[in-house]
Amino acid sequence: MIALKTIFAQIENSMSEKDFIPEAYTTLKEEGTVSYASPSNIALVKYWGKRENQIPANPSISFTLAACVTKTSVQYKKRNQKSNEFSFDLLFEGEAKEEFKPKISTFLKRIETYLPFLKEYHFVINTSNSFPHSSGIASSASGMSALALCFMQMERSFSEFVSDEDFKRKASFLARLGSGSACRSIEGPLVQWGETNSIEGSSNLFGIKYPYAVHNVFNNFHDTILLVDKGEKQVSSTVGHELMYGHPFATQRFDQAHNNLEKLKSVLLEGDLDAFIRVIESEALTLHAMMMTSNPYFILMKPNTLSIINEIWKFREASKTHVCFTLDAGANVHVLYPENEKDVVFPFIKEKLVPFCQNGQYICDRIGLGAKKL
Ligand code: DP6
Repeated sequence: MIALKTIFAQIENSMSEKDFIPEAYTTLKEEGTVSYASPSNIALVKYWGKRENQIPANPSISFTLAACVTKTSVQYKKRNQKSNEFSFDLLFEGEAKEEFKPKISTFLKRIETYLPFLKEYHFVINTSNSFPHSSGIASSASGMSALALCFMQMERSFSEFVSDEDFKRKASFLARLGSGSACRSIEGPLVQWGETNSIEGSSNLFGIKYPYAVHNVFNNFHDTILLVDKGEKQVSSTVGHELMYGHPFATQRFDQAHNNLEKLKSVLLEGDLDAFIRVIESEALTLHAMMMTSNPYFILMKPNTLSIINEIWKFREASKTHVCFTLDAGANVHVLYPENEKDVVFPFIKEKLVPFCQNGQYICDRIGLGAKKL
């Protein structure tokens, strides 16, 4: 008999964009409010390079975070007349933010086919982040996933029955259309996105909760985020992804991501932290190597990023702990370490690494369980 898990995996694998177009709704409410808090995530195997319609060029996997979250509420009210334009106000931390509106408009355009009610309403979108806006921490993953979840909550109230499974899958599908990495922020603690042979049920269209056993050593894993440079990003991720087109090492990089995911399977199962470190640090440096070898080329690390990495390597050798680092497309450093080493590692971070942070700023985060309805 085929296991139920395999059948679900086959269904997920065979899903297409069309499966996310809803059937007729039972009722469209006049008005209401929906709210979600959704976390950021930190990729272990990095998504870098995409095709049209937000299809990733390679598979990725991330830890969902707990402390870095975006809270979004959407007030909706039926409009008197249906219009060809979307209608919304955007408030960020209580104040109107015109400069964020184009990104939301693009998102609404991309998801309209899958949520055909959008033009029938006026929305007041109210959003805020738990982390400082100018921290250099990307808010697109938490922001887009929170908004996608709010719209999904609306859709749920217009439909007869939607299972939690279908709800989360479509929320991830929609979030992806806002920002690729956002599709990995709906659930936790580990989410995988992008088709790859070694992970059953993996899809380019949405993230899935990592479907295999994970060793206890990863419970409560810590991520202390060191804010090295809080300035504007020198290169947006959209531009960065495009630079993988015609990149001389693109094919090798995409193959490497598939291989690293496969390697991680046994690493996560066995809790082999030495092997974990080798994959995670290599992924971070490869991401930056791709930027350094693209045309045009960029260096997004700062001198303090390198100082931090060197300090981590020295300390790890001397203390025999398993502290390691990963990076996003910027200068900040995510310092990862297991719960049972925090009493040794955190004092080291405070004493030796925090001095390299801009204004001594850092954020204590850890692996989390995903978005929450408010
Ligand atoms: C380096 O998800 O921000 O953080 O799809 O263009 O919105 P868009 O890109 P985005 O890219 C994230 C890239 C990364 C790696 C990762 O999170 O996997």
